[in-house]
Amino acid sequence: MLAIRAAAGPARRQFFRAAPRAAATVSLQTRFYSGKKEVAKFTGVKDSNGLYAVSLIEGDGIGPEISDAVKAIFKAADAPVTWEPIDVTPIIKDGKTAIPDAAIESIRKNKVALKGPLATPIGKGHVSLNLTLRRTFNLFANLRPCRSVAGFKTPYDGVDTVLIRENTEGEYSGIEHVVVDGVVQSIKLITREASERVLRFAFQQAQEIGRTKVRVVHKATIMKMSDGLFLQVGQQVAKEFPGIEFDDELLDNTCLKMVTDPLPYNDKVLVMPNLYGDILSDMCAGLIGGLGLTPSGNIGDECSIFEAVHGSAPDIAGKALANPTALLLSSMMMLRHMGLSEYAARIEKAAFATLAEGKALTGDLGGSAKTHEFAAAIINKL
Ligand code: IPM
Ligand code: MN
Repeated sequence: MLAIRAAAGPARRQFFRAAPRAAATVSLQTRFYSGKKEVAKFTGVKDSNGLYAVSLIEGDGIGPEISDAVKAIFKAADAPVTWEPIDVTPIIKDGKTAIPDAAIESIRKNKVALKGPLATPIGKGHVSLNLTLRRTFNLFANLRPCRSVAGFKTPYDGVDTVLIRENTEGEYSGIEHVVVDGVVQSIKLITREASERVLRFAFQQAQEIGRTKVRVVHKATIMKMSDGLFLQVGQQVAKEFPGIEFDDELLDNTCLKMVTDPLPYNDKVLVMPNLYGDILSDMCAGLIGGLGLTPSGNIGDECSIFEAVHGSAPDIAGKALANPTALLLSSMMMLRHMGLSEYAARIEKAAFATLAEGKALTGDLGGSAKTHEFAAAIINKL
């Protein structure tokens, strides 16, 4: 939050002062992400019992039920993790939405958290808690892979997209004001520093998962300065990764091509500013069956929060009807981030086998199993 506010000052002055032509050639001489090469590495440590503590935000609505399913599966798989439940019910600090100190301390200490859905107020009320968490911990990259799930038929088979969204600024900066009655202005803030760290993460991620191409998705034809800077930083970071092919594509074109044939995206990591990533990641999720089947990780240098990005589904809360797959897959992403890939692979295999078999599916996937029955079926296959 503070970082965003601090950045807003100078950037806003630049916005008003610079003539578009001069500003379009923003120099690349100034600060480049503190010269740091590797970003977002997990730094948590095991306790004396060989376990990692993970902060757990169960969330609203169906959050507690799907969290219970994940906890049961972790226990059965003997994953070396202890859960530290935390309450993130917002407090107001200096007139702004804030996370309670105890929750902040827990996540700072453990370096990692798993989070269920939190309800977001629309058009009024406190700032989204989801955003507050991302800002509080400077979780600059949002990793959203979408892979076809065997057993759940959608128009395309074999989809395997990896999308990385800038997660702290852009259209989500929340800098909005009324100019005069009937005219409001919203500022899309793009900084070199935030762009560089997410782009660096994208290249690093491509290397880690064995993809050879990184593509920036943008609209620099129209947003020449802001998206222009993002793209320019991408071209610069690309020079440090000669083994990875770099290119770019206009957002509207990406949407058109992806819904026409998503498979050419299977060898790429896509990286883009915040709002584009929000929208395009839902579109990718739609290609494979929706947000109930996709994981998400908010990654930062200090800590990371892995979360289900579907809603809190208050209408079915407490009825054991919810599908825990998104939270479970997010927790697999978390295990891999923590260097516990073997556990992730084992649990993931059991989960996908259960989905493919189709005998214990929840209602959203056409079955009639309860949340805990689906979890039990996965545990059976471990
Ligand atoms: C997401 C969600 C959030 C966002 C909401 C809940 C604030 O849609 O994680 O994609 O807009 O980023
Ligand atoms: Mn979204």
